[in-house]
Amino acid sequence: MRMKFMRILVTGGAGFIGINLTLKLLKLGHEVTIIDNFITSEKAKINVLRNKKNWQLIVADIGKKLPTELRKMKFNQIYHLACPTGVPNLIPLAEEMLLTSSLGTLNILELAKKNKAKVLFTSSSEVYGDPKEFPQDESYTGNVDCIGIRSPYEEGKRFAESMIAMYVKKYGLTGKIVRIFNTYGPYMSLGDYRVVPRFLFQAIAGEPLTINGDGKQKRTFCYVDDLVNGLLLIMDKGTRGEVYNLGSDEEITIEKLARLIIKITKSKSMIKYLKPLSHDPWRRLPNLNKVTNLRWRRYISLEEGLRLTRAYLGHE
Ligand SMILES: NC(=O)c1ccc[n+]([C@@H]2O[C@H](COP(=O)([O-])OP(=O)(O)OC[C@H]3O[C@@H](n4cnc5c(N)ncnc54)[C@H](O)[C@@H]3O)[C@@H](O)[C@H]2O)c1
Repeated sequence: MRMKFMRILVTGGAGFIGINLTLKLLKLGHEVTIIDNFITSEKAKINVLRNKKNWQLIVADIGKKLPTELRKMKFNQIYHLACPTGVPNLIPLAEEMLLTSSLGTLNILELAKKNKAKVLFTSSSEVYGDPKEFPQDESYTGNVDCIGIRSPYEEGKRFAESMIAMYVKKYGLTGKIVRIFNTYGPYMSLGDYRVVPRFLFQAIAGEPLTINGDGKQKRTFCYVDDLVNGLLLIMDKGTRGEVYNLGSDEEITIEKLARLIIKITKSKSMIKYLKPLSHDPWRRLPNLNKVTNLRWRRYISLEEGLRLTRAYLGHE
C-alpha cells in the first residue's frame, strides 16, 4: 500500500497493538507521535523503537488536559488506541478505563477537529457483551450488563463509539470505528492475563496451562500483522462514520488452543482447569463481510502466528 507522507498520532502507542502499528507506519515513511501513560504497558517495550527515526513519545494521560506541546502539533491522522486493557484490570483500573474512554476520547476528538485529522478508534468485540447472535455483524447491538464486572471496559467503549458517531454527524469529523476481536503477537503484555502469551509462557516453563471453566468456550485469534494491515486499510479506504469488525472468524476452543500451544512448544505441560471467570462470554464470532469488501484478508494462520509469537518470546 503506497501512501503519501503523513504526521500521525497514535494514542496508546506504547501498548501491544500500538507498537506494532507504529513500526508499520515508520516503515511506510510516516512521522509518528506516541502518547501513552504506560498504565498497561512497560517502558521497556518501546526499546524496539530506539534506533528508529521520525517518532517521538509524549508521556501523558489523555484523560487529563492534553500537554501544550501536543496541542501545538499538527496531525493528518490519529489512531486512537489508548485504553487500559486486561481482565485482571477490570476492577483495579475500572475508573481509568471509563475516564480514558470518555474524557480521553473527548480530548482526542477535539484535537482531531482542530487539526481536521482523520480518526480511527479501536473499539472492541466487548461492545457485543455476551452475544446472543452469531456471527456478530456490526448492526448487532449486543448484550451488555451496564453495571457488570466488565462494564467499565465495555460501556467505556460503547460511550466512545457514540461520541465518535456524534462528532462525525455534528462536526463533520472523518472518524471510523474498528471493533477488534482477539489479537495476539509480539509485544503483548503478560500482566493482562491474555490467553495466548499466558499459555505460551506456561508451556515454555513446563507449568500447567490454566483454563478457566471447561475449555469448551470458543474464541477466534488474529495475528497482529494482519490486524495492523486492516487498521491501515480502514483508515485509508473505510467509509466515514462506519463501524468495522476486524479479527479472525476461525473458531477454536480454548482447550484446543492449549493443546496446539503444547504441540508447538514441544512442552510436557498438563492442562489445569480453574473455576470459570464471571461474565466470560461463551463464544464470539465476527461477521467480517464489511472489512472483506474493502479487500482485507488474513494471511497468517493460527499455527504460523503462534510460532512467530513463540519465536519472539524466545528472544526476549
Ligand atoms: N489486543 C486485543 O486483542 C484487543 C481486542 C479488542 C480491542 N482492543 C483495543 O485495542 C487497543 C489497543 O489494545 P492493546 O492490546 O494494544 O492494549 P495495551 O494495553 O497493550 O495498549 C493500550 C495502551 O494504552 C495506554 N493507555 C491506557 N490509558 C491511557 C491514558 N489514559 N492515556 C494514555 N495512554 C493510555 C496503555 O498504557 C497502553 O500502552 C485498546 O483500545 C483495546 O481496547 C484490543
